[in-house]
Amino acid sequence: MKNKLFFTRPFFLLTAAILGVCSAANAADAVHYSPTQKAWFLETEHTTYVVGVNENGELQNMYWGEKLTRDEDLAPAHSNPEWASFDSSATTTNLEYPGWGGRLYTEPSLKVTLADGVRDLVLKYDSQQIEGNTLRLTCKDIKYNLTVTLIYRVYPEEDIIRKSSTIENHTKQVVTLESAQSGVWYLPRNEQYRLTYAAGRWAGEDQLQQEPIRQGKVVLESRRGNTSHQLYPWFAIDKGGSADQQHGQVWFGALGWSGNWKMVVEETPMHQVRITGGYNDFDFSYPLKPGEHLDTPEYYAGYSDGGFGGVSNSLYRLELNEILPDHEHPHVRPVLYNSWEATEFSVDEAGQKTLAEKAAKIGVERFVMDDGWFGARNNDHAGLGDWVVNKQKFPNGLGPLIRYVNQLGMDFGLWFEPEMVNPDSDLYRKHPDWAMHFPGRPRSEARNQLVLNMARDDVRDYIFNAIDKMLSENNIKFIKWDMNRHFSEPGWPEVPIAEQKEIWIKYVRNVYDIMDRLRQKHPGLEIESCSGGGGRVDLGVLKRTDEVWTSDNTEALDRLKIQEGFTYAYSPKVMMAWVTDVPNFNGRSTPLKFRFLVAMQGSLGIGANLNKWSPEEFDLATKMISYYKSIRETVQMGNLYRLFSPREGEFTANEYVARDGKQAVVFAFLHSQQFRNPMPAVHLRGLDANAIYRVKTIDDKLVEKHETYSGSYLMNHGIEFNLTGDYDSTAVTFERQ
Ligand code: DGJ
Repeated sequence: MKNKLFFTRPFFLLTAAILGVCSAANAADAVHYSPTQKAWFLETEHTTYVVGVNENGELQNMYWGEKLTRDEDLAPAHSNPEWASFDSSATTTNLEYPGWGGRLYTEPSLKVTLADGVRDLVLKYDSQQIEGNTLRLTCKDIKYNLTVTLIYRVYPEEDIIRKSSTIENHTKQVVTLESAQSGVWYLPRNEQYRLTYAAGRWAGEDQLQQEPIRQGKVVLESRRGNTSHQLYPWFAIDKGGSADQQHGQVWFGALGWSGNWKMVVEETPMHQVRITGGYNDFDFSYPLKPGEHLDTPEYYAGYSDGGFGGVSNSLYRLELNEILPDHEHPHVRPVLYNSWEATEFSVDEAGQKTLAEKAAKIGVERFVMDDGWFGARNNDHAGLGDWVVNKQKFPNGLGPLIRYVNQLGMDFGLWFEPEMVNPDSDLYRKHPDWAMHFPGRPRSEARNQLVLNMARDDVRDYIFNAIDKMLSENNIKFIKWDMNRHFSEPGWPEVPIAEQKEIWIKYVRNVYDIMDRLRQKHPGLEIESCSGGGGRVDLGVLKRTDEVWTSDNTEALDRLKIQEGFTYAYSPKVMMAWVTDVPNFNGRSTPLKFRFLVAMQGSLGIGANLNKWSPEEFDLATKMISYYKSIRETVQMGNLYRLFSPREGEFTANEYVARDGKQAVVFAFLHSQQFRNPMPAVHLRGLDANAIYRVKTIDDKLVEKHETYSGSYLMNHGIEFNLTGDYDSTAVTFERQ
């Protein structure tokens, strides 16, 4: 019997209440210690994670996967023997947080240099603390007073566990950290696995990749200063390489860090798969003075037996219930208009008012003015850093425009690119030293701009004050926070040489700090994370931003694939998707209806030049936006079922089901029909087989014309759409009766 069930539950709760330790009841559910096994059991609704102390006093991972029902089935942790003189026990044993020392040859969780030159770290278990759903395990080096506290937080409903570590220097001298990881996850040994991740580039984000895991390492990382479009900080690993959207065992993880990150997927010579993750150790050096500590990024991971769809829906629940700024009082995202593709830098009061009037008429709820409103900003050569309103474009400030937008019933949002400076700006002329640089070396420009050294507190404070002033003087409810290049020459000459590499971490912490302080000072403020499209999307930035700009590529057919990759790990609620004009990115022209239905699968925005729309286009847009409002809660907060992937053929279909099961929506797209291929039957998922659903179509594309269907018919028999030609599309809603 599980020792946590030693008391029957009502008796336990009563006892706990009387003793005034109600939180212990939760602790007993999610985290408990088994003295017989010297092990901690972390329980979610469907999974178990176990870490124990082995006979050497080291923390050792004992299990992670499908739920175990009896603690005592697991033998206490026991280190594995060495495999010949070449593969030590440290390498064959699943050490929970291995320091680089002794004969460790696998990826370490921590690597240090001590003041006396020693570069050997052997961590042994020291103490524990259980508090609610959080477990803290402290380890200490065998000689030096350097401690590491492993912090675990259990999210039972989401089937996710979060790891991070705090490294503290209690010695009397500086300890230099050379690799500081959040932790390592171990999969059941000796299995065949396949790795899924997302890679990309500017305007080609979130392309899914799959490959078998073999002995060796696959490194997913960013060395660019921010999260990057090139690789995304999440992984999914399925057993047997055969998982699909609804079947198969999948272990997955995602990092919460918006700077240089790294995940190493490693299969050891003993066929043990382990996934280490945390700060990138490239160009990394972090000196801890006596008494100082470093916290590593939060590293979330989970397990699902429901294939990749199960993974995505678990992560959405985590993001919506625990991570997003509105997680305590979730609300749907407003329909947004953004001026960028319509006007680029040519913004002014009259032009923006005209667009705002038109946007309001079709049902837009938030009007956002993009780049071009500040400093000497008429193109991308000047102005970044000078966050004051351009008087030629807005002689009376932004007040008249914002009031007009508010009178039209919309709130107002504004674009900033806080971390950047153009050499042609007042800020740079005054403070050339504020840009990241190495003294006497060239400063590489990209998009004619340099990166401000946000690690400096004076730079951080300047940016905070500039944005705060704009927000205090104007009714601005939303910031689009952009970042249009990566780091170069990451020098910080003003601090001692030994501390200069801290720039990689302190930069990000100061960016987070500005966002947090702005939100605190301006309650209700919302932020979009943009980095030339989807270059800064991770679970760290999502704690302080409400949505992200998915891609500068708004071409609808490309977007189907980008959105598929995006929603593997990130919720449709945060996926900002605009309807824009055609021909677009690839020179392709798709019908307005197709563009709307693609964008309506996330958080809907309009980015078209409304001055060029015909009355028919306004009419269609009004209808589509009104339809979107009737389904957006389901799309943004429900479960997503990928029925047909855009990577696999000419037909794509996605289904969203509301959390309460009352509504389901199916979106279907035919890209380019060939050979008059017949449309496949679409089998819905996630419905109640016995319930009756009333159908609402937006057109006549459903082949059968019934008013209602049973859930069992929709899931087992399926429905067919009458889509033909190029870029045909439809959407159907099913309301449970
Ligand atoms: C890049 C963003 O991704 C675009 O949406 C737009 O805001 C431009 N920057 C403005 O310079």
